[in-house]
Amino acid sequence: MKRSEALKQLSREHHRALVLSKKLLRISSCDPAEGNREWSLLRVSLVKELLPHFEEEETLLKELGLSHTDHHLLNRFRSDHQQIRALLNTSDYMSAATLSERLKLHIRFEERELFNWLESEFGDEYLSRMIRGEHAQI
Ligand SMILES: [Fe+2]
Ligand SMILES: [Fe+2]
Repeated sequence: MKRSEALKQLSREHHRALVLSKKLLRISSCDPAEGNREWSLLRVSLVKELLPHFEEEETLLKELGLSHTDHHLLNRFRSDHQQIRALLNTSDYMSAATLSERLKLHIRFEERELFNWLESEFGDEYLSRMIRGEHAQI
């Protein structure tokens, strides 16, 4: 399915996150000293790239009035973000493999389920306005 203009930038960021997820998988096979060193370096990039992306998605859902909506896709979205944030806060490099898998599944979920649902529920034009923060004028 073709991604709408509104969600294209978030989708592009998913590609970058998948690259980081592959790097995470390699860390898990390192010895502890190297693994912990690589993990702390990669965590800096992950925090820098993933957290603003998460915040952007959460802001979009807030603008759409969905922050507290009880819906299976939105519940999964919130729980994935919570789990990934918690994994980013751990200092043990053995969390890298779990984080890699969670991240990959989360991106797949957003691309195949959540984003498609948002596009069909709200439409591209409305989503674009929400992403640009034009909700006050609607
Ligand atoms: Fe997300
Ligand atoms: Fe995402």
